[in-house]
Amino acid sequence: MKKWIAILLSIAILITTAGCNGTVDQPGADSEAPGDASQPPVVQPESPVSSAHDSTDAQESKIPRILIAYFTWADNTIVEDPSAVDVDATTSASVLPPGNAAKIAGWIQQEVGGDLFSIVVEDPYSSDYDECLDRAADEKADNARPALVNHVDNMEDYDTVFIGFPNWWYTLPMAVLSFVDEYDFSGKTIIPFCTHGTGGLSSTIRDLTAALPDDVTILDPIGVYRPDVDSSRPAVQEWIAGLDLDI
Ligand SMILES: Cc1cc2nc3c(=O)[nH]c(=O)nc-3n(C[C@H](O)[C@H](O)[C@H](O)COP(=O)(O)O)c2cc1C
Repeated sequence: MKKWIAILLSIAILITTAGCNGTVDQPGADSEAPGDASQPPVVQPESPVSSAHDSTDAQESKIPRILIAYFTWADNTIVEDPSAVDVDATTSASVLPPGNAAKIAGWIQQEVGGDLFSIVVEDPYSSDYDECLDRAADEKADNARPALVNHVDNMEDYDTVFIGFPNWWYTLPMAVLSFVDEYDFSGKTIIPFCTHGTGGLSSTIRDLTAALPDDVTILDPIGVYRPDVDSSRPAVQEWIAGLDLDI
């Protein structure tokens, strides 16, 4: 009997000893997977800064980024019946697109590239010459800034801005001043172009200059007499060549 008791005691001691040797789960043992804590974290090398990208930017910055903005009556009026417009009549020739300023703008773009932008008022002008004259006279007298329907979202991307317009009442259509007031032209190069009747440039350049910041560079404008517009492309090309743009 004593022998059996001794055997049972021995078995009990063996079982207890085995448990203390770690075969029982320890709290948190699973989280310590081999290598997790002992290895340094893997650090991905940062993407190298592309020197090619930098040099491309530098090269691009030397090329003038050009906007050609213009106001023309034809884009700012509604003609109910275009077939009824007598395009030979001097007072109505401008109501059908492309207007005179738009034609010149298109030739400029063909010479220098860049983006075209037609300045358009929210409230169109009458296509009747006398009514348009009256409203233009009122807006000039009020120094008005008619609201525009369209806007340049990225003016900061342009460093050279052509601004084109007809002579209206010896100055700019007030919508051009709405456009000029809307953006910061500081540091930019401004190149005006004008189409006109017998009044020539009149006060257009003076009034445009007064509306712009002091630190713009204003290059020589071109003025094109209305009856000469259709044949003026060579003159426009010659004028652009004389501007010495770095293009
Ligand atoms: C409301 C209005 C006022 C104008 N005032 C003048 C003016 O004072 N002097 C002038 O030489 N031409 C004047 N014109 C003629 C325009 O300058 C000319 O027709 C111009 O070529 C029109 O350009 P567009 O087709 O781009 O609008 C006026 C035309 C309009 C419609």
